[in-house]
Amino acid sequence: MAKHATPMLDQLQSGPWPSFVSDIKEEAERRHKNVGNVEFQIPVDVCDDLLGILELSYKDGTTHWKHGGIVGVFGYGGGVIGRYCDQPEKFPGVAHFHTMRVNQPNGKYYTTEFLGKLCDLWEMRGSGLTNFHGATGDIVLLGTTTPQLEEIFHELTHNMNTDLGGSGSNLRTPACCLGESRCEWACYDTQELCYQMTLEYQDELHRPAFPYKFKFKFDGCPNGCVASIARSDMSFIGTWRDDIRIDQEAVAAYIGGEIQPNGGAHSGKDWGAFDIEKEVINLCPTECMWMEDGKLMINNRECTRCMHCLNVMPRALRIGNDRGLSILVGAKAPILDGAQMGSLLVPFIKVEEPYDAIKELIEGIWEWWMEEGKNRERLGELIKRQGLAKAISAVGLTPVPQHVMEPRHNPYIFWKEEDVEGGWDRDIADYRKHHQR
Ligand code: HEM
Ligand code: HEM
Ligand code: SF4
Ligand code: SF4
Repeated sequence: MAKHATPMLDQLQSGPWPSFVSDIKEEAERRHKNVGNVEFQIPVDVCDDLLGILELSYKDGTTHWKHGGIVGVFGYGGGVIGRYCDQPEKFPGVAHFHTMRVNQPNGKYYTTEFLGKLCDLWEMRGSGLTNFHGATGDIVLLGTTTPQLEEIFHELTHNMNTDLGGSGSNLRTPACCLGESRCEWACYDTQELCYQMTLEYQDELHRPAFPYKFKFKFDGCPNGCVASIARSDMSFIGTWRDDIRIDQEAVAAYIGGEIQPNGGAHSGKDWGAFDIEKEVINLCPTECMWMEDGKLMINNRECTRCMHCLNVMPRALRIGNDRGLSILVGAKAPILDGAQMGSLLVPFIKVEEPYDAIKELIEGIWEWWMEEGKNRERLGELIKRQGLAKAISAVGLTPVPQHVMEPRHNPYIFWKEEDVEGGWDRDIADYRKHHQR
């Protein structure tokens, strides 16, 4: 018999999608049975009380978590999101319900051995509930008490060789698309670069030193499977700068109907036979493709590497061999001054170990923002306040047309005094010699 009646939540156990309610009930049940004889370190009925307080929120239409919460582990300034319920007598099992962020492996590949160990640890010292994964990338361990934080941290680091993720005004946990591990479009090893940058900037990740939060994300190509352009202050997106490689035989096979377009992605509906003119050539945003004597031609100088033709004909078209990435800066959610996506800062840079050139760009941006950023001002907002030209010079570049979608139309153009002959020091008396009042 469950501890609390949950009539509203019970309705979410029907329907085809995996029900989080059924799953939490199952975990609540497992804890009560405790077949493994676990020495639970937090209340056995934590899951029941979570469902209880969630049911209350469904009824009231309001949250029942108190404001904020500052907890953590010694040595670090972040990694744990403290949380206390506002009905501790009714729901003592979730009086403390802190979340621990655990740094995930890049691409989120696991062995059952690792996950098994993590579950054993969390079953004993936490609620047994998780989020796989947080939107930033972390493994999220949902719900434990303050005294367990150091215990969990000790076991994570000593037995599992695993660290916490980031929270607060610091570098948050970086994340990447699965990249070269199983994608033919990856223009660099996203997992490796993400891993190396995470290691390089551990200090910035664990001890907040910034005006506000800062995120890295690594996409292997412009398809953006980790959505870096929308969800990271510094977005690394793979590309190439030579020619798309064309296998004309495979092109003919697509035209002949032997290979399904888009890897068969639209096979759930009848879209007619594949028509290369209609589905590729006429959709190329720069109109740089054409057919000539049954062969597909691409004017690569005019190609913007949008990925469309490769996405439609993965077996005929390949990324070029001269690969690298672009860096875009400033993406953020609406608060305070409006949502932003990343703006192009570095059009192309080679990805070469030990990544010194990339580190220089990161540190150039940080040096500027850490000095100039106002309290709780995202990089994107600093760029609006001080200008893209400042960001460009912060990383030692000079402006190029690729930095803008279009030139400005208003004429409120600032000039540096040294660029204007004669400078700003003018005497009205000189002017009056030629112009009477
Ligand atoms: C036949 C009469 C006039 C002609 C042909 C004329 C022409 C112009 C032109 C070509 C500009 C430059 C616009 C631009 O490049 O943005 C301008 C700017 C301006 N004119 Fe006139 N104008 C005339 C009369 C006046 C009068 C009578 C006033 C004030 C009472 C005036 C005030 C201004 C001001 C303040 C600007 C500067 C606007 C800015 O900086 O954007 N103009 N005018
Ligand atoms: C109390 C009276 C006035 C006030 C408070 C006032 C205020 C302003 C302000 C705040 C601006 C914008 C400046 C900027 O964008 O940096 C402006 C621009 C302008 N004002 Fe006035 N103004 C007044 C009277 C006038 C009068 C009487 C005229 C013309 C006869 C005039 C013509 C203009 C023009 C042409 C501009 C545009 C200048 C530009 O584009 O840079 N203003 N004014
Ligand atoms: S972003 Fe590009 S490289 Fe990365 S997984 Fe997606 S399609 Fe592949
Ligand atoms: S990648 Fe995009 S822009 Fe380039 S040729 Fe293909 S469709 Fe055209």
